[in-house]
Amino acid sequence: MEKKKEKWEPDNFELEMNTVWSFPDRGSWATHDSKWRGNWSPYIPRNLLLRYSNEGDLVLDQFAGGGTTLVEAKLLNRNIIGIDINSVALERCKEKVNFEWENGGKVYIHKGDARNLDFVPDESIDFICTHPPYANIIQYSEDIEEDLSHCKVPEFLQEMKSVASESNRVLKKGKFCSILMGDTRQKGHVIPISLEVMKIFESSGFRLKEIIIKEQHNCKATGYWKTNSIKYNFLLLAHEYLFVFKK
Ligand SMILES: C[S@@+](CC[C@H](N)C(=O)[O-])C[C@H]1O[C@@H](n2cnc3c(N)ncnc32)[C@H](O)[C@@H]1O
Repeated sequence: MEKKKEKWEPDNFELEMNTVWSFPDRGSWATHDSKWRGNWSPYIPRNLLLRYSNEGDLVLDQFAGGGTTLVEAKLLNRNIIGIDINSVALERCKEKVNFEWENGGKVYIHKGDARNLDFVPDESIDFICTHPPYANIIQYSEDIEEDLSHCKVPEFLQEMKSVASESNRVLKKGKFCSILMGDTRQKGHVIPISLEVMKIFESSGFRLKEIIIKEQHNCKATGYWKTNSIKYNFLLLAHEYLFVFKK
């Protein structure tokens, strides 16, 4: 059981009201920390869960990672299925949600592949709130074959078609699916992975509801990167895209 924490919810939380989101202080309430590389700020799932789901709903995060979405769902009284391909991630998820919380949502943790959710029935999910790898920009394992963080961009986009179609299958009609994605740069040119993923979700039957720009704060415009940005004349990528789709 996690030790008693002093702060279980953010101070003076206010729902985001426009399409640019920025959380310089990532959020360290409850059991959150930034130890799972590439985890998202808990402010993101908190905002999404509050806007696009209701208490008692069943939420899905099929790229659960370090468990940020699971913790927020439990705190906000949403039930959630957390899936990841990596057993180390799932162990972290179990530790992170192991706290007492009055009226907390139930958390179901399952090892699985986001491309094949056959244990999740059709149209059974009220909200999808997820954060896949951005192709192979950060690798989450060394030798897990199904880990999409080993895929180069073209293969990653191909595999995301299965992720989008499974997301569409399990989500109830009229409900929302949100997904955070980043881009990369190769040989001086930006590769808009996120916009390609957006098109893949649209082709799977989703309708775009929102595009939110999420500012990135781990982008260091100093030293090596500052010098190269000027020397080779490119801008440092400092944002990600958060898409909200409706089925
Ligand atoms: C960006 S991280 C998620 C971080 C999470 N939002 C958090 O805050 O901790 C992406 C996760 O996707 C997982 N993953 C990669 N390929 C997968 C697959 N095919 N099915 C399910 N999970 C996968 C990785 O193991 C990694 O934990």
